[in-house]
Amino acid sequence: MGFAKRTHTCGELREQHEGSTATINGWVAQHRDYGGVLFVDIRDRYGITQVVFVDEASQEASELARKLHYEDVVSITGNVRKRENPNDNIPTGQIEILATSLEVLNRAATPPFEVREEVKASEELRLKYRYLDLRRRALQKNFIIRNQLYQVAHKYFEEQNFLEVETPVLMKSTPEGARDYLVPSRLHRGQFYALPQSPQIYKQILMMSGFDRYMQIVKCFRDEDLRADRQPEFSQIDIEMSFVDELDIYALIEEFIKRLWKDVLDIEITAPFRQISWHQAMTTYGSDKPDTRLGMEITTLSELAKTCGFGVFANAVNDGGDVAAICAKGCAGYSRKQIDGLTDVAKRYGAGGLAWMKVKEDGELQSPIAKFFSDDELKEIVAKTGAEAGDLILFGSADFNTCYTVLGALRLEIAKQTGLAESVKGNDDFLWVVDFPLLEFDADSNRYIALHHPFVQPKAEDVDKLNSDPASVSAIAYDLVINGYEAGGGSIRIHDQSIQAKVFELLAMSEEEAEDKFGFLLEALKYGAPPHGGIALGLDRLAMILARTENIRDVVAFPKTTSALSLMDDAPSGVSEEQLKELGISIVTKD
Ligand code: AMO
Repeated sequence: MGFAKRTHTCGELREQHEGSTATINGWVAQHRDYGGVLFVDIRDRYGITQVVFVDEASQEASELARKLHYEDVVSITGNVRKRENPNDNIPTGQIEILATSLEVLNRAATPPFEVREEVKASEELRLKYRYLDLRRRALQKNFIIRNQLYQVAHKYFEEQNFLEVETPVLMKSTPEGARDYLVPSRLHRGQFYALPQSPQIYKQILMMSGFDRYMQIVKCFRDEDLRADRQPEFSQIDIEMSFVDELDIYALIEEFIKRLWKDVLDIEITAPFRQISWHQAMTTYGSDKPDTRLGMEITTLSELAKTCGFGVFANAVNDGGDVAAICAKGCAGYSRKQIDGLTDVAKRYGAGGLAWMKVKEDGELQSPIAKFFSDDELKEIVAKTGAEAGDLILFGSADFNTCYTVLGALRLEIAKQTGLAESVKGNDDFLWVVDFPLLEFDADSNRYIALHHPFVQPKAEDVDKLNSDPASVSAIAYDLVINGYEAGGGSIRIHDQSIQAKVFELLAMSEEEAEDKFGFLLEALKYGAPPHGGIALGLDRLAMILARTENIRDVVAFPKTTSALSLMDDAPSGVSEEQLKELGISIVTKD
């Protein structure tokens, strides 16, 4: 089937092409019929070109053009000429093509929504017809950025002497924190592979093999609750290095991020990035991935609260927890309903309720709990939180994590409601969060769990405390935080077999269990494991930040919904009885 192949893309023609003959191929984006003159916009991935049909140029083409529909695929040949009414908003806006011939390469059925930059259709419908939504320039731009990200990563790490090595997708189930996606084995009935949550163990073993500098752009799979910045399958730029310490990793990644911002956004950023400890991040911003641009720092008031007359506060501190507050600037006018909304946010993060104080214009405090405090205490609260007339003070009182996490969530909510979050956009903020605790006590299972994963090296000065006071042990672990997103995380790893065995023991793993799950790693550590460490950057998250979107689905070609469904192809789906039988699987349906 022959057709006139394009001589130019739809984004290519300029004034300099005036007078020449050109052929473009693309989709009908727009057509306007003014009787004698018909304007049709043709779209491809490179842009949009206006085509004009008049009978004088070709009656046949004009007649055919009148019957065009949105999204028909066409080939058009004609003469490039200057537009009478230029459009300065698009690069091809100075010219148009006067059509001398038109071929319809394929008719399009009426699309379920119009492919337009101003999105009107619901996200659900757009996900079902993802291929139509992906025709939009705004989405295509994101994939151009994503592609730049791949290219810069491959180039940069290659220049730095990294080897790209692929690791298995079918692996042993060794949960790292989230649930595994499992794949049943046909040849070994009743046994399962797991899809990797990350190539963590493989990359460490590559270091033991002497690979020294490993990188991989790799798919990872996690069966966890989804949010706006999470997908069940996502990509990492995964890095591991031997004979390094954390400073080497920071320097390597800072240089990469600098290169990325320069090459993709043409923005010069400065390094080294600021570092703050996990503890400071929690007590100042109520988050281990703080958006420090927002200010609104948390003030700890535990000392004052310990002896105050308000039982809820005093008890929280005396039970080993904390009391702290944020000052919401200019929010003293909040209505009952608005405060109820904030209370709901606080409760969602584990608070029992929300205590607040409004600073009235005359400096008086209005609050249901003011009566429990002496004048001096009230003055101290106002002074410490920096509150002024017109401000609203919000309190958290609970165990350390709940108290600060609740205030962290309220801080983000207030920033959103007051427009503060919008006002800091475009002003990127890079930060290392360091000194994470090695372990976290999980009250539900009454045991310690690893905050990152079980292979993280405790700080040298804390190794002795692994026995006496494990909760106070800090890890050589770090997260890269950009604009309040966790863009990456890594650590220096344990390369000493006895420390690794000790950490497994602290995680309440019996020797048999450790042997069963990680025996191969413990074994490998015996045969000359070099000191090593690394990091994984969330590729989709970096793409989101670079593309200035807050929805991870905008940078994933075929994303899943928050309930892990693929609306376009209807995954997950049932399988045939035959397939199940082969695998020895029977389904228990809920009744
Ligand atoms: P971690 O679990 O912190 O570390 O993951 C590294 C980075 O991957 C991104 N990320 C995600 N992106 C999208 N959707 C998800 N569900 C998702 N989960 C994580 C984040 C995160 O910072 N093996 C270690 C790395 C190491 O220690 O070297 C790991 O996977 O940006």
